[in-house]
Amino acid sequence: MSIHSPDRKVSITTLAQLKRDGSKFSALTAYDYCSAYAVSSAGVEVILVGDSLGMVIQGHDNSLPVTIDDVAYHVNCVRRGNNGSLLMADLPFMSYYSEQKTLESAAILMRYGAQIVKLEGGAWLSETTRLLAERGIPVCAHMGLTPQSVNHLGGYRVQGRDPNKAKEIIDEAMILEQAGASVLLLECVPVDLGKQVSEALSIPVIGIGAGPHTDGQIMVWHDLLGLYPKKPAKFVKNYLAATGGSIDGAIRAYDLDVKEGTFPAPEHCYT
Ligand code: KIV
Repeated sequence: MSIHSPDRKVSITTLAQLKRDGSKFSALTAYDYCSAYAVSSAGVEVILVGDSLGMVIQGHDNSLPVTIDDVAYHVNCVRRGNNGSLLMADLPFMSYYSEQKTLESAAILMRYGAQIVKLEGGAWLSETTRLLAERGIPVCAHMGLTPQSVNHLGGYRVQGRDPNKAKEIIDEAMILEQAGASVLLLECVPVDLGKQVSEALSIPVIGIGAGPHTDGQIMVWHDLLGLYPKKPAKFVKNYLAATGGSIDGAIRAYDLDVKEGTFPAPEHCYT
């Protein structure tokens, strides 16, 4: 199989169909050619060039220092190794503060090979979402724990534990779907809220620390392989240690667990 004519090409339509079929799908971050090739060749549906690169690649404490040029550089590397997965890229901190800035930032990532852009926030992003979607740029809305707002949130905390806040997350997710978001990524919320959001939306919901009921799951590459030296979050599973084998084996074990619904297990979830 050549990566220039992959066996499959995952698109936002594929994800929508998987949701309609009730089939789960997997996602992983990747930041370079080789990891992108390994992830996509193992059958993972979505590759995210996340602004988590600020921590795992650049060694910062958070994602705020990451620039659009940083993300563009890694999208370009990942694009060359991608073997048919949907390539999602993060719009980093302060790259979507105005209409013009948003369009310029998204255009850079799309020209480098991104197929969908992800941006963090709730209903306040509905006009931004509409702006992008109407111009042919698919949007993944990122809600729950939004790491670009870590200073506002007072740390990396579980979101939506309070019933009013949980309702707000569901309502705002529906507003973003209405505005044209094609995918929602939900981070660090209780299991019940992950389930309610996934049931309330007709677009696919990808979870990270959001329980087993979301349509897809995502994990950071360095967490999958236990490479990040700081204490892992509760929702992380080191698949390289768990499988005791190869990197390819770790990716495939993760992908299978997600598709069979055995990851995340209760110990990776917030109640
Ligand atoms: O930047 C990133 O890697 C992310 C994941 C935590 C989903 O947004």
